[in-house]
Amino acid sequence: MASSAAEEKKNIVIIGGGIIGCTTAYFLTRHPAFSPTKHSITILEATSIASGASGKAGGLLALWAYPSCIVPLSYKLHAELAAEHNGEKRWGYRTLHCGSLSANGKVHTPRVVGDGDMSGNKEEWQKLPKTNAKRKPVVGLPQDLDWFDGDSVTSYSKMGDPTTTAQVHPYEFTTSMADLASEAGAKVILGSVTSIDQADSGVKSVTYTAKDTQESHTLPATDVILSAGPWTSHIFPAAPIDAMRAHSVTIKAEVSPYAIFSEIDLPSNFTGSGNVKRRHGRFVSPEMYARPHGEVYACGEGDTLVPLPKSSDLVECDESRCQDIIDYVGSISTPLREGEVLVKQACYLPSVSHGNGPLIGQTGIKGLLLATGHTCWGIQNSCATGKLMSEFVFDGKAKSANISSLDPRKVL
Ligand SMILES: Cc1cc2nc3c(=O)[nH]c(=O)nc-3n(C[C@H](O)[C@H](O)[C@H](O)COP(=O)(O)OP(=O)(O)OC[C@H]3O[C@@H](n4cnc5c(N)ncnc54)[C@H](O)[C@@H]3O)c2cc1C
Ligand SMILES: *[C@@H]1O[C@H](CO)[C@@H](O)[C@H](O)[C@H]1NC(C)=O
Ligand SMILES: *[C@@H]1O[C@H](CO)[C@@H](O)[C@H](O)[C@H]1NC(C)=O
Repeated sequence: MASSAAEEKKNIVIIGGGIIGCTTAYFLTRHPAFSPTKHSITILEATSIASGASGKAGGLLALWAYPSCIVPLSYKLHAELAAEHNGEKRWGYRTLHCGSLSANGKVHTPRVVGDGDMSGNKEEWQKLPKTNAKRKPVVGLPQDLDWFDGDSVTSYSKMGDPTTTAQVHPYEFTTSMADLASEAGAKVILGSVTSIDQADSGVKSVTYTAKDTQESHTLPATDVILSAGPWTSHIFPAAPIDAMRAHSVTIKAEVSPYAIFSEIDLPSNFTGSGNVKRRHGRFVSPEMYARPHGEVYACGEGDTLVPLPKSSDLVECDESRCQDIIDYVGSISTPLREGEVLVKQACYLPSVSHGNGPLIGQTGIKGLLLATGHTCWGIQNSCATGKLMSEFVFDGKAKSANISSLDPRKVL
């Protein structure tokens, strides 16, 4: 008994090719009512797929994330997708441990480079602490969490284990979702949306500027899903979405599978490589996620110094903020201090102005759905959001979870 919503021919337009737009496209193509000959699904992406936070996030998934009305569904869907599409290989899906630790940072003087005299064994290195030397036992510190220096860790508490915590490589996951949706009939167009056009009865089309020709085009639409992350309010000003910049790095290092939330007490004589004296005061809290294939992702805190630019390719990365992260994690970990820095990057997090979020569902304008404001759990909550969006489109309502608390109409 197909609902009337599923019987009409649908032109579905998804605005934004981040993780939310791409999982939405994927789940639309998997909905039992979807027929590629009858319905059309188009992702309109301004720059390139996963060019914003969705390609630059950490990728942690956790049953202890929030909000609780979608977390268990999304965590389970991630595991199912990984099993179905070989996510372990394709997007680095794996389960891992998670904990938070406090540690004392140490100053490590960089190697003193001589004036060309490379003879003899005179290279001066700051003596590195031996990882296992004189380690005071720290209550609860797991044996295999061995990538922090000797006596730097002062306390540890477990936050999750492989039954409650997992990870994906967010860029690989997002682009895979776009590819799998495309193979099943969805279309990706590179173009920047300039307006969502309405008729009396609701949405009727979406107008965009094509990326290659800079020409304006209009796509007819029966259903529009607005999932432009932090840019959502640029397209639909009524949406109360804010943006916060965050920097991150990846470092080459072969370490045991843990995601670590840290609080580092920096020494008073701490100066980073950039010679910035304790920009952030005494305590800093970088996060470090081990990834498969010998890589660690580390990110710092957010800043609001530079407002969200017009598009993802114009996001400014402040190298000195990346260097801070590298110096901070290097002050407690030899593998991270010595590992080659692979990537330095920045992106913007989408959040809901008055707190809470995300906003998932109807807007009060017929045919216009919102899926945004996922703050720091958009990777974790992407699958549930995509699945629920496919239900709004084809079933007229959310079926897999009770998300009345995320209803955008409450804040629009
Ligand atoms: C440093 C950092 C670490 C994070 N770590 C994690 C983590 O470990 N786990 C987790 O669950 N979450 C994490 N997140 C959060 C997660 O990255 C975001 O919640 C998520 O990526 C948001 O996805 P999105 O699709 O809504 O937005 P975005 O990824 O920003 O995608 C929006 C897309 O819309 C496009 N767009 C913009 N304007 C237009 C327009 N006019 N027309 C067409 N397209 C347009 C953009 O180009 C962009 O591709 C982290 C975020 C940051 C910043
Ligand atoms: C920094 O201070 C610590 C003591 O707090 C000292 O042991 C160390 O040698 C100092 N390092 C540098 C480079 O000055
Ligand atoms: C859905 O959750 C809300 C609380 O967020 C609750 O008030 C409501 O009764 C729930 N609805 C159903 C159908 O369970």
